[in-house]
Amino acid sequence: MLRIISTGKGGVGKTTTISTLATMMAREGKKVLVFDTDPSMNLAMTLGLPYLEVPTITENKGRINEELDEAEDAAGICRDILEKYSRVNRDGIRVIVMGAIPDEGNGCLCSAISIVKIVLGYVSSDGCPERYDVAFVDSQAGPEILGRGLAKDFDCNLVLTEPTPKSAEVSRQVAVLARNLGIAKSLLVINKSESEEDRARISSLVGIPVEDSLRVRFDRSVMEADRNDVCLLDAFPGCDAVKDIREIKKRIEG
Ligand SMILES: Nc1ncnc2c1ncn2[C@@H]1O[C@H](COP(=O)(O)OP(=O)(O)OP(=O)(O)O)[C@@H](O)[C@H]1O
Ligand SMILES: [Mg+2]
Repeated sequence: MLRIISTGKGGVGKTTTISTLATMMAREGKKVLVFDTDPSMNLAMTLGLPYLEVPTITENKGRINEELDEAEDAAGICRDILEKYSRVNRDGIRVIVMGAIPDEGNGCLCSAISIVKIVLGYVSSDGCPERYDVAFVDSQAGPEILGRGLAKDFDCNLVLTEPTPKSAEVSRQVAVLARNLGIAKSLLVINKSESEEDRARISSLVGIPVEDSLRVRFDRSVMEADRNDVCLLDAFPGCDAVKDIREIKKRIEG
C-alpha cells in the first residue's frame, strides 16, 4: 500500500491536491483510503460527504482508547474503528476524519493522532483483509504533523507550497523533518504558479531538487469549483490545474 501525506503552509492547496489525486485513483479502480488529520477538517466536504454526519475520532477518543487499552487484539478494534468512524463517498473512497479540537482548555490532539497512527499501522499490515492500494493523509498547516511522527516511513511527502519565500520557508522545514523521519521521497508541488521560472527559484529555497518539483498552475476553475462546492474533476475535467495534478499522479505512481 502506497502511503502519501500532504504538508505545507495554510491555504497552499493540500486538500485540493489530495482530494483530486484520491478521486482520480479511485475512478481508475484503486482502493483508496484517506485520513483527514486537520482539526479544521474539510476533506470530507471536498469529497462530497455530508461532513457533519461523519463521526470523528476526537469525539469518540475516550471510548476508543478504553477499548484499545482493554483489547487483546488491537486488529479487532481497528476493524471496528474503520467500520464505525469512516464513511465511503460516491467514488468508493473511504474517509476517516480525525476531528476538531475537542473542547476549550483541552485542545490536545495527541491521543487522537496516536489512534490514527494505530489504524494506519493496521491497514498497512497483512492482518487487514481489505487490501488498500493507497492511503492519503491530509494534514493541518505547518510542520507540526511531521513532528508528531505520524508519517514515519511513508512513501511520499507531497510538499505543497505557493511560489513565495514565506510559503517556501515552511516547506523547507517540512522537508527537513520528512527526511529525518525516513520518508522515502519528498515531491515539491509549487501550486498557484504563474511562471515556469518558479520551479528553479522555489526548489532552491525549499532545498528539494528541481527534478523532484512540479508546478500546478494558478487556475480560477479551482476557486470556482470551491465556491460552488462541487468536485473539481467533474466541473472542470480539462482545466490546467487538473492536467497538472495528473502529472503529480504519474510521478507518484512511477
Ligand atoms: N491551482 C490553484 N489555483 C487557484 N486557486 C487554488 C489552486 N489550488 C488551490 N486554490 C485555492 O486555494 C484555497 C486553499 O486551497 P486548499 O483548501 O486546498 O488549501 P489547504 O492547504 O488544504 O488549506 P488549509 O491549510 O486551510 O487546510 C482554496 O480557496 C482553493 O480554491
Ligand atoms: Mg486543507
